[in-house]
Amino acid sequence: MPHVTTPAPFPAARMRRMRRTAALRGMVAENRLSAADLIWPIFVTEVAGAEGPIPSMPGVSRLTLDGARRAAETAMELGIPAICIFPHSDPARKTESCERAWDPENIGNRAIRTIKEVAPDLAVMTDIALDPYNINGHDGFVVKGEILNDETVAALVRMALAQVAAGADILGPSDMMDGRIGALRMALEEAGHKHVAILSYAAKYASGFYGPFRDAVGASGRLVGDKKTYQIDPANRDEALRCVARDLAEGADMVMVKPGMPYLDICRDVRESFGVPTFAYQVSGEYAMIAGAADAGWLDRRAVVLESLLAFKRAGCDGVLSYFAPEAAAWLREA
Ligand code: PBG
Repeated sequence: MPHVTTPAPFPAARMRRMRRTAALRGMVAENRLSAADLIWPIFVTEVAGAEGPIPSMPGVSRLTLDGARRAAETAMELGIPAICIFPHSDPARKTESCERAWDPENIGNRAIRTIKEVAPDLAVMTDIALDPYNINGHDGFVVKGEILNDETVAALVRMALAQVAAGADILGPSDMMDGRIGALRMALEEAGHKHVAILSYAAKYASGFYGPFRDAVGASGRLVGDKKTYQIDPANRDEALRCVARDLAEGADMVMVKPGMPYLDICRDVRESFGVPTFAYQVSGEYAMIAGAADAGWLDRRAVVLESLLAFKRAGCDGVLSYFAPEAAAWLREA
């Protein structure tokens, strides 16, 4: 905990003295937000006609490969260091065995290669989970209603190796199977990919805030049941810290807390307990709340977006995955 001194009695301490002008406020600002703190999640579709606005995420669109290329150029211009790719795959090709997840030609892998062509210096992060290719919308294989753990981990390893072959810099396992970080790390070492980073979705909660994302990737109507047998119960704090400790021990370079705003306490806990690179995901439902209220004229979009992102820095995060990334980076450039 930082050392906190008791303020001198009034009038020696007039807290308002340092709030009087922008220059004085800037001198004592404890945290700053910059484009370098942002990771931009994008949706890329292979389905003709599916590109365009996502109704539950007003202002966000599914992109074609061409759109992904332009997004990469925009990220470079704005100083955003990383893009995270989420695939919207052809519903007709989703199966129970999810074999497209490790197909070098799936839309996720094509998007990685496309982005690397135009922006080799931009970090490309992936999502590792079977849901975009799974007919029942789950992150793992489903047999008789059960989400299989170890069989899923083996498939995730294949999926990851295909992403690395396509050029991924950072792997983002979001599936919440046990043992996946260790399995991925070992497979990467064995295949000679010593420098591929893993940003583990270590503290990922079973959240209602993922709804619009599931619309965006076309998983909404499919999900059979819920994800509570593998994602963390929102009631739990110690469990999240145990997950982080385990994932670090298994070889994660960075860890993520997800969702973001309702879990700032967990961000602070992770920062203070481990002191490792800590990220938060301001997820689709958080985006929708702010964007929807701003569209209705109830909130000032710019003020609330920048405040919400700064709150992650104050909570101890090194960075934030946010759909607001390009907009926020443009505002920060003006400021
Ligand atoms: C699943 C995945 C999800 C998100 C990222 N990866 C949804 C889920 O777990 O159901 C959600 C991101 C968001 O809501 O913005 N692999």
